[in-house]
Parts: sequence; C-alpha cells; structure tokens
Amino acid sequence: MIPGPTEVAPDILRGMSSPVPAHYMDEWLQLYKDTLRMLRDLLQSENDMFIMTGSGSVSLEGAICSLVEPGDKVLADEAFADYARLCGANVVDVTPPVGETLNPALIQDALRKEKDVKIVAILHNVTWTAVTHRIDLIGEIVEKEGAIFVIDAVSSIGGIEIKTDKWHVDVVASASQKALAVPPGIAPVAVGKRAWEKIENRREPIRSMYLNFLNYRKPPIDPSWTWHPTPNTPATTLIRALSQSLNKMHEEGFQNVFKRHEVTGRAVREGFKAAGLRLLVKDEKWASNTVTAVLWPEGYDYTRFWRTLYDRYSLMIGNPPEQTFHPIEGRRYFRVGHMGNTASPKYVLPALGRIEAALKDVGYPVKPGEMVKAAQEVFLSG
Ligand SMILES: Cc1ncc(COP(=O)(O)O)c(C=O)c1O
Repeated sequence: MIPGPTEVAPDILRGMSSPVPAHYMDEWLQLYKDTLRMLRDLLQSENDMFIMTGSGSVSLEGAICSLVEPGDKVLADEAFADYARLCGANVVDVTPPVGETLNPALIQDALRKEKDVKIVAILHNVTWTAVTHRIDLIGEIVEKEGAIFVIDAVSSIGGIEIKTDKWHVDVVASASQKALAVPPGIAPVAVGKRAWEKIENRREPIRSMYLNFLNYRKPPIDPSWTWHPTPNTPATTLIRALSQSLNKMHEEGFQNVFKRHEVTGRAVREGFKAAGLRLLVKDEKWASNTVTAVLWPEGYDYTRFWRTLYDRYSLMIGNPPEQTFHPIEGRRYFRVGHMGNTASPKYVLPALGRIEAALKDVGYPVKPGEMVKAAQEVFLSG
C-alpha cells in the first residue's frame, strides 16, 4: 500500500512473461494505436498522445526541455522548478505551503504581475503530501493569460479525473506505475496544439534527442508511422501491459474507476480520523483520492510501528523510517497509497486492520476495529 509502484493484477503479470513483442508490424501498430486511443479517452482529450520509455521523470523533463528556451519566464512548483532552471528559464516558484492546495487566485496574480509568462508547470496530485491541486480552475486562467499549461499527472492519471481539453491543459506528463497499475518504466504524454506551436516556433533547437517531443510526434525513422510508431525501441512488454490495464479500466468504466478512488480516499481518511490521527492536508477538501498522508502521533516509536507493519503484518506503507524528509516542523508522517488495484475495500480494509494492530503494538490507544469500521461505513454507503 505504498504510493507507487502499485500492485499489478496477476493476469497482467502473467502476460508480461509471454514473448516480448516487436515494436513494428501490423499487430504492434494496432496495439499501440489502440492504447493511445484509450489514453485519450481516459484523459478526455483529442490531443496528440505518445508513450515515452522511462519513469515519470522522463515525461516531466521532456515537457520542460521541449517547451522552455533560455530566458523564458516560467511559473513552476516543486515538481518542475529545477528542470526549468536547467533549461535556462527565469523561474517564479509557486509551490504552496506544505499541506495546502495551490490557490488559483495566486496563479492569476502571479501571471498578471510577472507579465509575459510563457509556461505554467504544476503538479496535479502532490504524492508526497497527499494534496490535489485545482487544475480544473487553473487551466482557464493560464490560457487567458496566453501561457502554456503543463501538469504532472504522475499520481493522478487513472485515479483522479483529468478533463484535459475542457480544463485547457496543454501538456499532461504521467507515469505507468501508480493508478495505471503497470510496473514502472513508461510515461504516457498528451500534447495539445498550443504547446506544439510554442515548440515549433522556438528560436533555438531543443538540446536533446531523447526528450525532444517533436521526435515522438513524427518519429524521424518514418514520419508516416507505417513502420515504427516511436523514435526509439519502446518498452513493448510494458506497453502491452498498459493496454491490458486500460482495457480493464475501460470495462469497469472510467467514471466508475474515478468514483472508486473517491470513495476509497474518503474511507481511508475516515479510518485514520476514527483513531484520532491527524491528516497532513490542511483542509480535507483538497485531500488526494490516491494517497493519504497522516501525521505521526508524537511520543510513539515510529520505527517500531513501521517495522512491525512490515515484518509482522506483511504490509508496506509509504515513508520507511529511513526517510528523513519531514516537511512540517520536522514532524514525522506516513503515507498510504490507495490507487489502481489498491483503491478498493479488498485492500484497504485489511490494511487498516493491520495498521490498527501495529499502532496498538507501539502503545497508541486505538480500539480494535474502530478504523476498519469507519472505513467500512464509507464503503457501504458508497
Ligand atoms: C507526482 C510525482 N511526480 C513525479 C514523480 C517522479 O516520477 P518517477 O519516479 O516515475 O520518475 C513522482 C514519483 O513518485 C511523483 O509522485
């Protein structure tokens, strides 16, 4: 139950042990195109889609490297600021305080004050603090001010709804290993018309081959896409796994998938609150539906709690004791992922039961069953 990589369904794992597909010929072209079509449906977009090989970072860095030119003014948060600086951008950091959502009005003010901002690049879902940003409100503001809107959807894609076109999102950068429920290694990307225009009208060439989005739009090997739909050898086994996972999500219905994550998010939060634990998110209406961050109660042994969960109850949660990043006044916190296959009572109820037991083991006053009961009530009322 960590916030990625997540559990991969057994049939998909089995499929991954069948012969490695080649990355050309009709069968592959069909599978690749069908996968892109399902991704477009999932992201509610008619924009160009492609799948990069690499973890989520390749899509984030690709977006920035392709769009940003030296001297461009970029509003960026913690996910994108360093990439943008490396590409020579003049970065205005818009990262909100820990546990808070990015206020759309502040983006509006920053865009007006800074003038001539070329790109706004922010997270959709902040995996490390379990907060979701209001990209539905921010996209329109960004477009009105004439900037390009890039989002990091690594921990939202497949779990939290993204209305790419309606919300004026120009680039969606994402990854396979979280709510898409595929192993790490591929990064789906969606690029819209306004982003392509910015890329095509660059004064300077993009200083990368691998990260250059133009090479994914029209692979240099064959622009007509009849032979080879990607500019390099893609992770065919992973793309086939992604196509299987998307097919399952499609069968369930994408809206049902988002609803399942929404109910699960609420159930997990109610579970922790029932034990008197505090969430890291400052206001629950900003809480993520794919991951929950919980402040560790002071005076109890966190290392023992985490190890007990892992060694005795066979449950891995986020933030192992070795992790030293504690963003709130040095306070320790832990995270539970509930995305993809784990966004389900099947995973969440036993996990909360084990967490209760481990809390009890370190002397924290929790009544057996109270976290599970609170979560169960949410699941039952749906
Ligand atoms: C929101 C977010 N963005 C980017 C990344 C980096 O992705 P990756 O580790 O797949 O490169 C992560 C990693 O977990 C993430 O949670």
